Amino acid sequence: MANTKQLFKRVVPKGLYRSLKIRYRQYSVLLEANLDALRHIKYGAEEDDLFSGAGSMRNVECQLTKDYHRIEKGLALRNPKRPFGEAVKQRITSGLDVPAVASQLPLVAVHAQTALSALADWNDSEEIGAHVSPTVDAPLVWDPILSAESQALLEHFFSSRRSVRAFDSAREVNVEDIRKSVATAISTPSVCNRQAWRVHLFTQSDDVSRVIAHQNGNAGFGDTVPAVAVITVDTRLFAGANERHQRWIDGGLFAMSFAYGLHSRGLAACMLNWSMKNDASERLRASAGIAAYEDIVMLVAIGYTEKSFRIARSPRRPIDTVLEVH
Ligand SMILES: Cc1cc2nc3c(=O)[nH]c(=O)nc-3n(C[C@H](O)[C@H](O)[C@H](O)COP(=O)(O)O)c2cc1C
Repeated sequence: MANTKQLFKRVVPKGLYRSLKIRYRQYSVLLEANLDALRHIKYGAEEDDLFSGAGSMRNVECQLTKDYHRIEKGLALRNPKRPFGEAVKQRITSGLDVPAVASQLPLVAVHAQTALSALADWNDSEEIGAHVSPTVDAPLVWDPILSAESQALLEHFFSSRRSVRAFDSAREVNVEDIRKSVATAISTPSVCNRQAWRVHLFTQSDDVSRVIAHQNGNAGFGDTVPAVAVITVDTRLFAGANERHQRWIDGGLFAMSFAYGLHSRGLAACMLNWSMKNDASERLRASAGIAAYEDIVMLVAIGYTEKSFRIARSPRRPIDTVLEVH
């Protein structure tokens, strides 16, 4: 029996059907963009000048992190301004006065306090707090000139990561390796060091099937996936109109590092898009036990390959179509 859509398509002239569909698509883009914006307004933090310590603890964390990092950054400059940071100091002080900060954000509170005292040391006596903006000896941290052998190894590492869509479903993943890969990914840069990422990992086959069923790009291999991670970001750690897209950027960068972390430990993975509307995100959040304030960046299928398997060719663009040296 034909469903409503099929019936509609049958009775409405082709041209009209097409133009109605285009209109509907345009309306959907506007609707979903508005729903995204409403989530950002509902959960996001206020901008600097409106900070009052109200809102969720994560909103307070957002402001404190942004501000203590401003001090770290300021003191890491070749010639820091002096004095600087009066508004930052006031916001950190009122943030630290929020009663629950000490118990609920102990690490953030320590980072904020130490940054405040480093700021005072600098402003009062021109001393740079080594704990807040340490001096590092470049060659000790990273020798930019790799040996040819190390460079070749690194190139091989990057180019050998490929999306895997054929898993050895009999082989369970080692959760410790995934944990280490998350630890690797935590070194990813993020806006003002906000680190809004979360990874929801599922390794039990019932859970994996339930979660992956919400995603639309795993046909033909989803049922062989031994583990699935849902990468999310905490929307409460982003503030105002300027940061409306930041969560996707930070979340995407994190996901890439995570994928390399997995690859470095011999785990195969396939990133799985979350190009979905808001109602689908609601359903996945409910099914996977993800909090309402987290936005879903993507899923990642994780497992081991069999000895021999096929990959999609996925040809790359020539470099000159990507790099434009101005
Ligand atoms: C954000 C993102 C979402 C993706 N979603 C899917 C997906 O849903 N299903 C899939 O089979 N591959 C997916 N991929 C994998 C891409 O198709 C793949 O990365 C691309 O073709 C390059 O190939 P490679 O990863 O093997 O280098 C996704 C990749 C990214 C980065």
